[in-house]
Amino acid sequence: MTQLRPHKSPIRVKSASVGEELEVQTSKKSDFVVVANRLPVDRVTGDDGEASWRRSPGGLVTAIVPVMQRREGAWVGWQGSPDEDLEPFTAEGMTLVPVRLSGQDIELYYEGFSNATLWPLYHDVIAQPVYRRRLWDAYVRVNERFAQATADIAAEGAVVWVQDYQLQLVPKMLRELRPDLRIGFFLHIPFPPMELFQQLPWRREILEGLLGADLVGFQSPDGASNFVRLSRRFCDLKTQRHEVMLDDRTVRAGAFPISVDANELIALVGTPEVQKRAAQIREDLGNPACVLLGVDRLDYTKGIQQRLRAFTELFKDKTLKCGDAVFVQIATPSRERVEEYRILRDEIELQVGRANGMYAELGAPIINYMHTSYSRDELAALYLAADVMVVTPLRDGMNLVAKEYVACRADLRGSLLLSEFAGAANELHRAFLVNPYDIGGTKHRMYEAMHASPVERARRMRSMRKRVIEHDVDRWANEFLVALEGNQRHAVSAG
Ligand code: ADP
Ligand code: F6P
Repeated sequence: MTQLRPHKSPIRVKSASVGEELEVQTSKKSDFVVVANRLPVDRVTGDDGEASWRRSPGGLVTAIVPVMQRREGAWVGWQGSPDEDLEPFTAEGMTLVPVRLSGQDIELYYEGFSNATLWPLYHDVIAQPVYRRRLWDAYVRVNERFAQATADIAAEGAVVWVQDYQLQLVPKMLRELRPDLRIGFFLHIPFPPMELFQQLPWRREILEGLLGADLVGFQSPDGASNFVRLSRRFCDLKTQRHEVMLDDRTVRAGAFPISVDANELIALVGTPEVQKRAAQIREDLGNPACVLLGVDRLDYTKGIQQRLRAFTELFKDKTLKCGDAVFVQIATPSRERVEEYRILRDEIELQVGRANGMYAELGAPIINYMHTSYSRDELAALYLAADVMVVTPLRDGMNLVAKEYVACRADLRGSLLLSEFAGAANELHRAFLVNPYDIGGTKHRMYEAMHASPVERARRMRSMRKRVIEHDVDRWANEFLVALEGNQRHAVSAG
């Protein structure tokens, strides 16, 4: 087994927004290892050439950070910039083990096979997936590197939890390197049905990769059933309900819907600073009768264009006039070198400009659009300021934004407009549910959500909050890890 290289003398790196210095770790094997494409912090180099760190984007990081902060363990992942060899270090109370990606790896494995092949294929082929052998080769190569880095850091008999679509080959590779490990895999995005998955030229290899795990977790029961059915069909394996039988062991599949750190959010919105900021946001928006909010990575799966169209049509129809309602759309920059994402950004910016050009008044846009990331405090204040949270993905594994909004509305005063195609809709039945492809239907439901009575809002919100508070991220992690290990070794109590 390869040993970690001895560490150089400790260095300290300035941290821009994670709020503490990052310190190089002494080499130590871990009993619990999370493996994900990204570390929770990205290394960014400013115009002055100085390196700093900021929180990585996306739901995976939001969910896994609190889980890791409450457990001793190591997180293996890429630090977000090319061609850097970094030693393991600690940040925000977590041990982080960087995996190096070259510029070419980023282009072929991350932007290529992960985000131009798998991402669109697994999201209902909303965009056309790209099938190229060169991208696949890079995916294999980089998965091998993650498997090796994990084999190096994991202690004898450790529990390893591999995350998401970028690393589907790691379970099998890791088992070959380290048969002593207990390996779990969780897919954060949808797992497609046979009719779509069978397009993939490397479908068998992907399934075999996942079958290296002892337990494969999905956001929904559909994902788990698709996986079992596909294993039977393309790997010629016997299956029984949610189990796949190999010669020497059984692989279990199951639904483990991910969630948020509800207590953290409840505490955050309880602070006077966040409440003051929420009031200030409303005032800055001109105290309109209704504030609608969208918070997403700028991704074509999120249905941003469709929701803005529905909103704008309410002005076109003269159902609304300027001053009645303001839409705030926050879009985190995402995968900006992938062609589809560049086109999407241009289209949304054009759409916002047009809508404001047609229906805004001087100093009073109907849509406020921000292409940037915000701190957790600012997001919490935005959630508190919004009368209607608009979460309308065309397809989404879960969508944590919907659950964050619900957790934040202890005052029971907001409405959630939610796509039927978000995993969250399986749990948040009392949201105003919409089919985002149906612009007319979305428009009417949006109007209904805006004008719901306080009693109706409270009734819906109370029921959704019960679900999110009872099924928080700790429960998600506990349930997965207990199912993986069959005992309570890694369980921690919520709160
Ligand atoms: P995905 O994993 O596809 O990005 P999710 O909705 O599940 O989608 O998770 C997104 C996470 O990123 C949430 O925790 C949300 O609060 C966070 N987020 C989204 N947009 C922003 C933003 N502009 N600034 C900061 N965090 C954001
Ligand atoms: O599951 C959603 C997800 O793809 C995560 O795997 C990822 O960390 C996040 O969204 C953000 O995407 P990216 O890492 O490509 O910026």
